[in-house]
Amino acid sequence: MTGARPWWQTGVIYQVYPRSFQDSDGDGVGDLQGVRQRLDHLAWLGVDALWLSPFYPSPQADFGYDVADFCGVDPLFGDLAAFDRLVADAHARGLRVIVDWVPNHSSDRHPWFEQSRRSRDAPKRDWYVWRDPAPDGAPPTNWQSPFGGPAWTLDETTGQMYLHSFLAEQPDLNWRSPALRAAMFDTLRFWMARGVDGFRIDVAHHVLKDPAFRDNPPNPAPSGGHKPASAYDAQLHVHEKDHPDAHALYREVRAVVDGFDDRERVTLGEIHLPDALDRWAAYFGEALDEIHLPIHFGLLDVDWTPDGLRRHVAAVEAAVPPGGWPTYVLGNHDERRLATRLGAAHARLATVLLLTLRGTPTLYNGDEIGIPDVDVPDARRRDPMGLRSGVPALGRDSGRTPMAWDGSASAGFSTAPPDALWLPLHPDHARVNVEAQRNDPASLLRLTRRLLALRRRHPALHAGSYRALAAAGEVFAFERRQGEDAVIVALNLSGATQPLPRAVGSLLLSTAGTSERRAHLGAWEGVLASPPSRPGGPPLADGP
Ligand code: NOJ
Repeated sequence: MTGARPWWQTGVIYQVYPRSFQDSDGDGVGDLQGVRQRLDHLAWLGVDALWLSPFYPSPQADFGYDVADFCGVDPLFGDLAAFDRLVADAHARGLRVIVDWVPNHSSDRHPWFEQSRRSRDAPKRDWYVWRDPAPDGAPPTNWQSPFGGPAWTLDETTGQMYLHSFLAEQPDLNWRSPALRAAMFDTLRFWMARGVDGFRIDVAHHVLKDPAFRDNPPNPAPSGGHKPASAYDAQLHVHEKDHPDAHALYREVRAVVDGFDDRERVTLGEIHLPDALDRWAAYFGEALDEIHLPIHFGLLDVDWTPDGLRRHVAAVEAAVPPGGWPTYVLGNHDERRLATRLGAAHARLATVLLLTLRGTPTLYNGDEIGIPDVDVPDARRRDPMGLRSGVPALGRDSGRTPMAWDGSASAGFSTAPPDALWLPLHPDHARVNVEAQRNDPASLLRLTRRLLALRRRHPALHAGSYRALAAAGEVFAFERRQGEDAVIVALNLSGATQPLPRAVGSLLLSTAGTSERRAHLGAWEGVLASPPSRPGGPPLADGP
């Protein structure tokens, strides 16, 4: 049965934030050659694919999510030859490569926008969203940017306003223009021809807006979810997000991606609709013909209690259509760090959960060693989300700091001195780094590696079904099963000893590092086990 599942269902995806992964040329910013130098880390860890956040030519107003050329490499990160070498070396290690695709907007420096803004009848005028301001000069709708202020900016040359769901430097592309559609589909083909194995689709649910340009209604219960609320949360985003026309577009995108050649590729959609599981699930497509893996972000908000987790996973499982496959994340470059959000002990449990639930997990670089949030001094803050939104706590710099590879001054990330890195290293990098944790059998890194190896070894874990199990106390337990292969997962979500669920047989792994069977789970201990009737064989050896 396992063989029937595609790699993007059985595998694990590792997110590389190129600015912060490895700097190969000493300018304090990571680059593609640096990623290439660190591929052995990913192969050793045991992930299946890497997803690269944007490395395209960009003024870096939103750190690469403002793309000035969808088919190039910014000199900051290297060039196309460096990209080709990276793909070749990744493939040689059995690692797939997923790139970011940013369909909602470009940079205001993209030649398309420069042409579009020239005059009202410029040939590419309709590649972007232009409207007249209201007679009093106000924007045409009340739509807001999460980065602060209205989502419209006046362009003096033509007296019209252009839409930008994010920064003014990120004008929205108009997907109602057939020529724009064709040009963007060509950008997918460009990267597929260079051998990429898939695309992570940035804010996939933002493309296409209400053609009647109606105002959003007020939000009766404003909330930022797990983030501080901002002015953006004062509206219900019904007219500029999750437009029904997006579904036809993703059917076209899927056809372009699936139809390119024989390579099995994936699309991963960034879709934040935390309170509307049905609308999130709609992005699988009625015939599973839209986005392969719409990312679910619910674990970032979840109530970390047995009941909270059981209900959350049950809701996701119920929403995923038959034949669909869940995708979970615990961190990315837009979030606070896992180790800080949950604390070190809890982060270990959360890693077990992420890597054992039914679905394709995405691991964010640095979370495998528990890099904490960094309190970035004001003078070194970079992220426009914090600097321009009026809510400094929304700044994302704290979760984007460089990888710590070893105990040297710049942590092996760069030959530049620490104060010349684009963001500061986390303060405990002399201790919390890859080299130190490779040598420590009790480390989060070694735990992550053991989990990935078990996941690969057990069809139950990489391909099987999910079933919640009864468990007493503060324990969340579930079974994964594929035919004869079954693995029980039990997580003690408390700092007190809890009874071991009856369903637990011989231990395959414990976050506490011991494989001896006991009657109890220790504080914050998580275990993987065989069911009682079926001995699981010797515990998994963890080589160096
Ligand atoms: C989502 C990306 O993850 C985020 O970093 C970016 O700022 C916005 N999309 C806008 O592209």
